[in-house]
Amino acid sequence: MSQDRPLNNAELLSVLDWYRAAGVDMAVVDEPVDRFAQKPPAASTMPPRAAPAAPAAVPQAPLPLGGDPSEARQLAASAQSLEALRDVLERYDGCGLKFRATQLVFADGNPEAKIMLIGEAPGAEEDRQGKPFVGRSGQLLDRMLAAIGLDRTQVYIVNTVPWRPPGNRTPTPEEMELCLPFLNRQVELVAPQLVMTLGGPAMQTVFKTTNGIIKMRGKWQDVSIGTHTVPALPTLHPAYLLRNPPAKQQAWRDLLSFRARLDSLGLG
Ligand code: URA
Repeated sequence: MSQDRPLNNAELLSVLDWYRAAGVDMAVVDEPVDRFAQKPPAASTMPPRAAPAAPAAVPQAPLPLGGDPSEARQLAASAQSLEALRDVLERYDGCGLKFRATQLVFADGNPEAKIMLIGEAPGAEEDRQGKPFVGRSGQLLDRMLAAIGLDRTQVYIVNTVPWRPPGNRTPTPEEMELCLPFLNRQVELVAPQLVMTLGGPAMQTVFKTTNGIIKMRGKWQDVSIGTHTVPALPTLHPAYLLRNPPAKQQAWRDLLSFRARLDSLGLG
């Protein structure tokens, strides 16, 4: 059957889903190439020429956003429990990240915990399992927690955005802005007594700064997240520590500082 009309949004999304199911999650050129319009190479008696160099991979552009931050704020504020907030997010279509992700990655750990960890964004394994920090960096995070006598029953773990950005890119400022009301509401509902942020983007979101993580790590600050004010400590992201093992020394200092603050508050 031939189709002359442009595809509608639902059809475009199902094409994207089909590509994703086939394992394609990165664009490699700026403009689409219509392979059907290309002529097959003419049969030739000449010796084959060297294959042209493959086009360089380019970062995937974010999907256009239809979202309205004030709508996100209203929806988030309407949730009176974590279950209600999860339900609101499941139905929220304002952030384009949702349409490239397999599922919502809401949170893990203990909703009654006094300690909250805030990461950046789900990766591939988190996207598959629907839980934050379950891939390689999550395994390192578990070891970091164990080193100061904690485990996932004593912490609540979230990300600044609850859907995996395609190709694991950093979420854009627009995507973060749309998701921030939901993070804020999650913090208000859990009301942790201590927060630790993991990596630069989470630190910048929570500390409302453009400073880099190397400058900020290890420095406690009282931060307001939504209406909740809480002491927070920024540390390095486990994925960064996997790439730069010598930086574990700095992360260890941060963890000891976190443990000392827990002890001084009689927590954990
Ligand atoms: N990195 C993050 O920041 N969050 C996750 O959930 C996994 C990896």
